[in-house]
Parts: sequence; structure tokens; C-alpha cells
Amino acid sequence: MLAISYLATVAEPVAALVVFAGADGALSAGAKAVDTAAKGAVQSAVKAARFEGGVGEIVELLAPAGISHVRLLVVGTGPADKIDASVAERIGGAIAARLLLSGETTASVDVTGVLAGDLAAHLGHGAVLRSWRFDQYRTKQKDKQKPTLTSLAIVGAGDVTAHDRLMAIAGGVARTRTLVSEPPNVIYPESFVESARDLAALGVELTILDDADMKKLGMGALLGVAQGSVRPARILAMRWNGTGRDDVKPVCLVGKGVTFDTGGISLKPPAGMEDMKWDMGGAGAVTGAMHAIAARKSKAHVVGVVGLVENMPDGNAQRPGDVVTTMNGQTVEVINTDAEGRLVLCDAIWWAQETFGPEVVVDLATLTGAIIISLGNEHAGMFCNDDGLAGQLNAAGNAVGEKLWRMPIGDAYDKLIDSDIADIKNVGPREGGSITAAQFIGRFIKPGVKWAHLDVAGTVWANKPGALFDKGATGYGVRLLDRFVADNFEG
Ligand code: BES
Ligand code: MN
Ligand code: ZN
Repeated sequence: MLAISYLATVAEPVAALVVFAGADGALSAGAKAVDTAAKGAVQSAVKAARFEGGVGEIVELLAPAGISHVRLLVVGTGPADKIDASVAERIGGAIAARLLLSGETTASVDVTGVLAGDLAAHLGHGAVLRSWRFDQYRTKQKDKQKPTLTSLAIVGAGDVTAHDRLMAIAGGVARTRTLVSEPPNVIYPESFVESARDLAALGVELTILDDADMKKLGMGALLGVAQGSVRPARILAMRWNGTGRDDVKPVCLVGKGVTFDTGGISLKPPAGMEDMKWDMGGAGAVTGAMHAIAARKSKAHVVGVVGLVENMPDGNAQRPGDVVTTMNGQTVEVINTDAEGRLVLCDAIWWAQETFGPEVVVDLATLTGAIIISLGNEHAGMFCNDDGLAGQLNAAGNAVGEKLWRMPIGDAYDKLIDSDIADIKNVGPREGGSITAAQFIGRFIKPGVKWAHLDVAGTVWANKPGALFDKGATGYGVRLLDRFVADNFEG
């Protein structure tokens, strides 16, 4: 992880210096000082580049005459009165993206008069998030392709208090991105569980169900999905109680953890099937959120539960037409073995409610391709039985830039998944496919429990870089869940 430090003044010599300019191109104090030393070269460069000072816009000067810095970055902040935590994070992200492969190992960011206090910590947070990479399996990278930047010194911020909390959250995001990025021969149900063992050192209590346990509990839907794979299923529960009391009902976060989704006997077409390694993105987000919540010693009671299976076709795989019995006794006609996520979630969610008696359940799942058709990659879909809860989740998502868009649920959709031979069928018509998927899960929510289902199929993986992530795993959901818990369940 990129190391962030805070200094009162620039500690010369500094090879790479970062200074700022506002929306009108007005130079920060630090920028003015170097401009004077460089005899107006900064102003000239800014003008030549048609720089407008937008958030994260950058003009880079190499070896400018008259100053000792080899590299000078002038970074836009947008209008001074609009600089908030998320703007600061985007600025940090832009700096990291620009310097990551630059050859510089460190840079000094002079925020004097631009970003004070915790806004500077958010700049550092954004830089840390944006600089995360997954290079583990590249053995032939040329030197110029390798990241060089290892630290940033933030200068002139004054008192910073949010740093540790933000680094804890960044640690959770990194955990999620690693889980999502690892190939499916490396991350499968058992190895996912093993990867989470170290959460115990943060004070997280782990409970693991193996296939025998789940059989005993009657999780026929989850086990039906797993039965075509040689890799046995697991459920992992991660409990953090920071309330200091044992009478506070927890928030349950439940994640879909299909470590690879071939579709099963309803086999997916080959093109793009490799993407289905990230069909455990919901489970990844829940695990990363538990990391963040525990690492920053949240005062809330939160339980993360992930249902882990691999969906494969083989001689023992479940068939379209099979009827399975879920843990709560409802029977399901499996029309399409590729609609497996809901089969995993229904048993995981039921078990979570029986075991932990939550007041609120939020599930995250890469559940449907249809949600990508609806919302693209900008928002995850939210399905929710409680307006207050929907408002809390929306607010958290907006605060951290992991946005949600509320979708409808209701009886008219619900009846579309009535089966002719069992209680429920696992798919409805093509139309409204994300909604009937949500209705399926809704049939396993106990009366009185506030529930939200987040369909994150469009947001856990990016084909192009964003402000706070490179292309690949985004870590979507970790900061959203952490913020949701922080703002609503810490008393
Ligand atoms: N994991 C997929 C959904 C998905 C698709 C996630 C694309 C990310 C990108 C899910 O298990 C699935 O296959 N859903 C089917 C449901 C259908 C059979 C009713 C789908 O969306 O096509
Ligand atoms: Mn599927
Ligand atoms: Zn799936």
C-alpha cells in the first residue's frame, strides 16, 4: 500500500513536487512560489496547456529551469468552495495515477492553503485507493511498466485525525479487490475461507459451515448449486461486535460468493465467461467491509455472511427441472441452473437470520446481467422493503461515490416466480429479470426484518480506469457498507 506521511514544511531536496491551481487557474501559494523561482515557467505552462483547473486536471513540467525539482505537477482542484472529501479523494487519485509509473518513488504534495486537516487525509486515501494494483502474475514486466511510487508526503495540512480510519477502509478495499482479481483456480470456496482467517487477528469471530453442516441444516438450494463442482461449498460468517453489549441486534451483510459461474448445465456461452471469476464480488465486498469495520474498531454490531460455491456442469450437476428444498422449507423448481446466485443467497440469508437475529439485512450480489442493461456501470441496483433503510443506503453511497439506484419490488412482480410444481421457480420472464431475482430473495426475508438487496453485477469490475481504481476490480461496496454502518449503527 502506498505510504502516506504528513509534514509541516517541504523537506528539500524534493524530486517531484505537487502544487495546485483553482478553477480559474489561480495558483496556490506553493505554485506561486515555484512560478517565481522558475521565472514564470509555471504560468506559461498552465496557459499553453489550456489548463482550466478542473478537479484532477494536471499540467506536468519536467526539469523546469531555475528550480531543483525534476518534476512539477500543477493539479486542478475545481472551485475552492466545492472542495469536499470526495473532491480531495479524486485529486489524490489523479496524482497517484499520474505518478505511479513515472519513475518517481516519492513525491511531496504541498497542500498549504488548499486542503486543510482531514481533507488532506482524504487526498491520501484517494491516492492509496487509486494506486492499488494486481501484478502478482506478471513475470515479464519491463521496468517502465512497473509501478515505482511507494510514498507521498503531504505538506502543510495541519491537524489530521481521519488518517488511520481511512487507511483501515483502504485495507478493506484492497482485500476485496484482491479476492475479486484472483483467478478462479486460486480463489474457490475453501481458499476464500482460508484467505479470511487473518481477520481473526482484527478481532473478527469466524464461523465456518462445511458441506456436512449445511446438509444437516437442510440447505438444499445452496448445495444443489455446488453439487456439480469437485470443490465443496462453504459458508463463512464474520462477526464484529463493537458495542460492548450482547443485547444489540446486529446488521447482517450477506454476499453472493460464486467463485466461478459457468452457468452449470444451463451453460453460458464461451465469450467473456472468464469474467465469471468475479461472480463472488458481493462476498468480496462483505469480507472487505468486515475488514474495514474491524480494523477501524467500529462501535457497531455487524455480521458478514458469505455463501461460497462454484457453479459447474458435470455428471452430478443439478438439472433444469430439479426441485430442491431450501433451509426454510420452501421448495424451488430450478428452471435455469444459471440463476444460481439466488439459490445460494436464500439459504445463506435464512441461516443468517436464524443464527444472528438481525434487525437489518443487506445483501450484495452480482445477481443479474439485466441490472447492467438497466443501469450500466454507474449505479448498483437497490431493492428494498423499507424507505428509511433505502434512504440510509442511498446517503452512504452518495457520500463515498458508490452510488445506488432504487428499483421497484411488489406483488405484481412476485407472482411471476410462482412455480407450477413447487413453491417458487428460480427464474421469471426475461423482462424485469433483476426485479424477479430480488423477489426471489425477498421470499426468504423474515417478517419485520428490514432488507435491501444490492445487485452489483455492473459495478464490481471496470473495463476502464476510474477516479479511484484502475481497470479491473473496483472494490465497490466496501466503502458504501462501511459508511452505512458508521452513520447509522454506532450509537
Ligand atoms: N452471475 C450471473 C449474473 C452476471 C452476469 C453477473 C453478467 C455479472 C455479469 C448470474 O448468475 C446469472 O447468470 N444470471 C442470469 C439469470 C438468468 C438465467 C435468469 C443472467 O443474468 O443472465
Ligand atoms: Mn449464473
Ligand atoms: Zn452468477
